[in-house]
Amino acid sequence: MVDHAHNLRAEFGRTAKPIGVITRGTTGVNRLRRFDRWCFHHPRIRELMARAAHPLALDLGYGASHTTTAEWGPWLHRMRVDARVVGLEINPERVLPAQHGVTFELGGFELAGHTPHLVRAFNVLRQYDVGQVEDAWATVISRLAPGGVFIEGTCDELGRRCSWILLDASGPRTLTLAWQPSDVPQPSDVAERLPKVLIHRNVPGERIHTLLGAADRAWDHAAGWEPYGPRVRWEKARAMMIDQGWPVHVARGRSRDALLTVPWETVAPDC
Ligand SMILES: C[S@@+](CC[C@H](N)C(=O)[O-])C[C@H]1O[C@@H](n2cnc3c(N)ncnc32)[C@H](O)[C@@H]1O
Repeated sequence: MVDHAHNLRAEFGRTAKPIGVITRGTTGVNRLRRFDRWCFHHPRIRELMARAAHPLALDLGYGASHTTTAEWGPWLHRMRVDARVVGLEINPERVLPAQHGVTFELGGFELAGHTPHLVRAFNVLRQYDVGQVEDAWATVISRLAPGGVFIEGTCDELGRRCSWILLDASGPRTLTLAWQPSDVPQPSDVAERLPKVLIHRNVPGERIHTLLGAADRAWDHAAGWEPYGPRVRWEKARAMMIDQGWPVHVARGRSRDALLTVPWETVAPDC
């Protein structure tokens, strides 16, 4: 496996150009903290990192500064002290020297010849056409290590409203919405930061629209819990959705974020 990965990298170095296009490099301190927390506690990701002989995580499209990669590194190193954490960026002018325990390389959706266990791409595909998303997903997931996962997501400037899709070699598996309960008036406000493949689908008749409507109604019905704080109110609202038959995944333990995770089929566009 190591030889194969080495050969791929050598081949890539000789012939290939990073796959994708340079886009705006906007990023920000702590912007991806909700994702970082979720990722750290995710049982499948923890197991993947624990079992890997040489765990490798890539932050694809880290933007105009080292910030998000450098912030993710300590979370990953708490899972595996020997994890390699690499930021990949398609803009050669943004490739930085190693710092804060992470390294940086030139690369695109081909992953610069790496075979990683974990790939994250936040606020990258939103600047592409929706018709390019599935090809980008396919390029990334075909290069994952066995059992590896790819998380493709988006968020607002301050990271208060976020959403992401977890994919593995078989394609998209779950959608997660994450928001700061005290700052976001209702769950459907996250719609403005849905992943590219869903953002234009939030219209009547589409599954994502139905899900967000159900989340808002449950939130309204849970208004009596507001005196206990918006986080408790969201937990009660989410429990109501489960009682109504929504296939919501609930992580063990209490999260400081409002989280809504559903299987991909619950929101997948028809075509
Ligand atoms: C808006 S920034 C996102 C920065 C950071 N991920 C965040 O969420 O704050 C998007 C970055 O992705 C880079 N990018 C776009 N397509 C890419 C690709 N195919 N591979 C690697 N980087 C890419 C752009 O050059 C840009 O620097």
